[in-house]
Amino acid sequence: MAPECCKLKVKLKIFYEEHLHLDDEIRYVLEGSGYFDVRDKQERWIRISMEKGDMITLPAGIYHRFTLDEKNYIKAMRLFVGEPVWTPYNRPADDFQARTKYVTFLAESA
Ligand code: LAC
Ligand code: NI
Repeated sequence: MAPECCKLKVKLKIFYEEHLHLDDEIRYVLEGSGYFDVRDKQERWIRISMEKGDMITLPAGIYHRFTLDEKNYIKAMRLFVGEPVWTPYNRPADDFQARTKYVTFLAESA
C-alpha cells in the first residue's frame, strides 16, 4: 500500500491530466481552495479559482483539469445528477457522445 502522501500525489497527477467525463462534474468546495482549468472555444485554458462555498458544474464532454493552489489544501464534495460516474477519459477522447454533444452545444452558443 502506498503511504497517504503518495496516494494523494497520484490522485493530483490524475486530476491534472486533461480529461473529460460522460456526466456533468459538480463540485462544492467545503474547505480550502484550488483551480479548475477548462478549455475555451479557441482551446485556450481558462483558470477558475475556487474557494470555500463555491460550486461549479463542468458540463459532460468538456476538457478540463484540476490543481491545488499555493495553499495546497482542498476539501470538496462531489455531487452527481444520477448514479455516480467520475471516470476520467484523458484527451484525446473525442469519439464519446458526451464530447460530440458538447462540441455541438459550443458551436451553437454565442
Ligand atoms: C475530477 C476533477 C478534479 O475529475 O476534474 O475529479
Ligand atoms: Ni474531472
